[in-house]
Amino acid sequence: MAASVGVCRLRFRGFGGLDRFCLGFEPQTQKRFTSTTPAIKVQTESKTTKAAKESRTFQAIQEERREQAERSVLISCPPKFNENKFLDYLSKHGTINKHFFYNTYGAYAVVEFSSRESIASLKESTNIPAVEHEAAVPFKSRLLSLKWPGSQSSNHPMPKFQNQSPPSINEITQLLSEKDSIDEQLQCLTEALQLTEENISLRFLVCSLLQDIAGAYFPECIIRPFGSTVNSFGKLGCDVDMILDLNGIYATSQKKGSGLSLEYQVKRGASERAVTQSILSVIGKCVDQFGPGCVGVQNILQARCPLVRFAHQPSGFQCDLTANNRVAMKSSELLFLYGHLDPRVRHLVFSVRCWARAHSITSSIPGAWITNFSLTVMVVFFLQQRNPPILPTLDRLKELAGPSDKCVIEGNDCTIVSDLSKITLQRNTDTSEKLLQEFFEFYGNFPFNKASINIRKGKEQTKPETTALYIQNPFETTLNVSKNVNATQLERFVALCRESAWLLHQKEILNRSSVSPWGFAALLLPSVTSGAGVKSRRKKKLEPASSRIKNLLDSLKIKGGETVAKKGSANSSR
Ligand code: GTP
Ligand code: MG
Repeated sequence: MAASVGVCRLRFRGFGGLDRFCLGFEPQTQKRFTSTTPAIKVQTESKTTKAAKESRTFQAIQEERREQAERSVLISCPPKFNENKFLDYLSKHGTINKHFFYNTYGAYAVVEFSSRESIASLKESTNIPAVEHEAAVPFKSRLLSLKWPGSQSSNHPMPKFQNQSPPSINEITQLLSEKDSIDEQLQCLTEALQLTEENISLRFLVCSLLQDIAGAYFPECIIRPFGSTVNSFGKLGCDVDMILDLNGIYATSQKKGSGLSLEYQVKRGASERAVTQSILSVIGKCVDQFGPGCVGVQNILQARCPLVRFAHQPSGFQCDLTANNRVAMKSSELLFLYGHLDPRVRHLVFSVRCWARAHSITSSIPGAWITNFSLTVMVVFFLQQRNPPILPTLDRLKELAGPSDKCVIEGNDCTIVSDLSKITLQRNTDTSEKLLQEFFEFYGNFPFNKASINIRKGKEQTKPETTALYIQNPFETTLNVSKNVNATQLERFVALCRESAWLLHQKEILNRSSVSPWGFAALLLPSVTSGAGVKSRRKKKLEPASSRIKNLLDSLKIKGGETVAKKGSANSSR
């Protein structure tokens, strides 16, 4: 968008599919979110409300979603039921704002009422099941089961189920091969992989259900999603990162007066980390013992950031619950902001993440791999290097912040502007295709042996330590977010960047009629540098690997008087 508008003030309006993150549903999604039966009041949005929503901050958007989740229930449905009767039954308890159905090991409905009283009324009329040979934990959660009398299960059409899974790599390849340009492919990829409105609602609802459990101990706690659920780079199927936020409790305890006062008697822990571990271990136990649908609970309390990991079966989500992790939430806000500044940012992030996953550069298993978070920061850094820059530096976002944006967490200044309309972008008309190609060239050439990536300054900095890859943590500036990455993994990344850059220089690959899959889809094929079966797929059309790589090395730009080959050997010698 910014490519064609030159210097512009940013508003959420006009960013198409991004509206989903601002609660202004895009038309296509709006259709999918059903409000059907006569008993259901269709909510019409006034122009004023819509305009107000368009300039919402990250926090305001998250708050609204959270509040909607608190008015929602998750209901397991039988194989056969009548949607209208089901909704009529529920609407006896109050107006239904929205509902949708999905299927994961059974049919489920998410139903959002317009008021919390409806939830109370619904719970009043809901039974604890009588279980034979076992006993039920009498915890009244908002995860319910619909009991449908057999006699009423006549042949009604089943409701439409919303898809909650990402397309397979074959489906993606097929989809992309039908597009006419690489720009179209990257946009199509983003649309196919991104979280849907329904999926985001379900993620907030799962956090809200968890909050009901943690609330038994800490009634004022809030469980908030962070990471890719909210940072605008979430892909269908990604995990749900959650924070148990106890800050509200501390905030309300800071009422200081000069007269008499009382304070709570509290247990003390050796350190904040020890307290966090102790709280998470208890909540983990409750989730395990009392949380309906929560299985495979693991307490991973010795990690740098202690967490409880579990699977929430009804939603199919893998969940990571952390506590006392406010910086990570701020990082999510920062990425959200970058994702909203220009549509090319998300196109590039989604394509680079997809490419990295296809080549096992990233993995769902923790290890020495590059993470999605690191990759996203690398894309942001690359876009700050463009001439003119597509993204502002973090220091610039801090300069633009107002007094209410001031944010210091554990001594780290995490201040960034929250009002996007204050950000002025420079005119940059690069196509997504050009950016993708130059991303690969940029990192195929990057002097990883001596330089670090720093999005705060938007400039390469001298590496302060000898880890293979150094990406400065945006807010905790003495930390490296990619400390885990070893030299082998970095070398694989560099080699694949070079190969992909080279492939994009080939006319064949850019020509829809000459190879299939073509364009970006061809970059998802297994690499010539990493295994069997690959050569046979590409060799038919392209040169053998050795001469291809040699040509690539020759064709890539020489930067700073040092050849790519020299830089590669500098990296591998570490
Ligand atoms: P997915 O792979 O789609 O789950 O991406 P993600 O962005 O959610 O990444 P992940 O689940 O690994 O981490 C969740 C969030 O934690 C990230 O978005 C970051 O905000 C934060 N995070 C992850 N790794 C680091 C790190 O090494 N340092 C810091 N400061 N934050 C991190
Ligand atoms: Mg995540």
